[in-house]
Amino acid sequence: ETGGGGNLTFHAGEVTAQERAASLGQRGGTVWFTGLSGSGKSTVAVALEKALVARGRHAARLDGDNVRMGLCSNLGFSAEDRAENIRRIGEVAKLQAEAGLVCLASFVSPYARDRDRVAALHRGAGVPYAEVHVAVPLSVAEARDPKGLYKKARAGEIQGFTGIDDPYEEPRNPDLRLDTDTTPLPEAVERLIALLTDRGMIP
Ligand code: PPS
Repeated sequence: ETGGGGNLTFHAGEVTAQERAASLGQRGGTVWFTGLSGSGKSTVAVALEKALVARGRHAARLDGDNVRMGLCSNLGFSAEDRAENIRRIGEVAKLQAEAGLVCLASFVSPYARDRDRVAALHRGAGVPYAEVHVAVPLSVAEARDPKGLYKKARAGEIQGFTGIDDPYEEPRNPDLRLDTDTTPLPEAVERLIALLTDRGMIP
């Protein structure tokens, strides 16, 4: 799977993860939010980022629509394109986390296999990682319909929409499950900060 025709050599730096963490005051890591469109992934990530920065932590967000306007602008929503979308984002998240940031990645990421690859990528590099299932019943996401996309999908104007005529594979063993229809946002943020601390991403 590696490009470069086998003519690539990894060039290691001379700053250890420990030295970087000491300099930044945090280790960093990736928090991967997965869930249906309209489940509240971006809302939770935005609130968490704000809370982290307010505490003097270093955080960054990667978000579905934003990334699809740039890094992944050549990808659609077929299973293959979603896999490539998640693969690219997983690599970027790992780079951000290795640089010491708490990277908050919010993507539908409906396939367990694609998510598992991202988790394995981080594990293999020794980078802290947590998977968060932002969970709501489909009926709740559809009632929220912030972008009017469920309505379009039901009308047949969008094909292959997650939850309607495309699969969403629920995480079997997430590090945290947030039920955003019953958990107030400040409580969700508190639980996430506890998770990040527990995983050593922030002190
Ligand atoms: S994926 O499956 O992880 O590659 O998707 P992602 O990059 O997160 O992009 C999801 C956002 O794109 C919009 N959108 C769709 N979602 C699901 N299925 C289909 N067919 C689709 N078409 C467009 C939708 O607004 C998603 O945004 P969020 O923020 O999740 O609501």
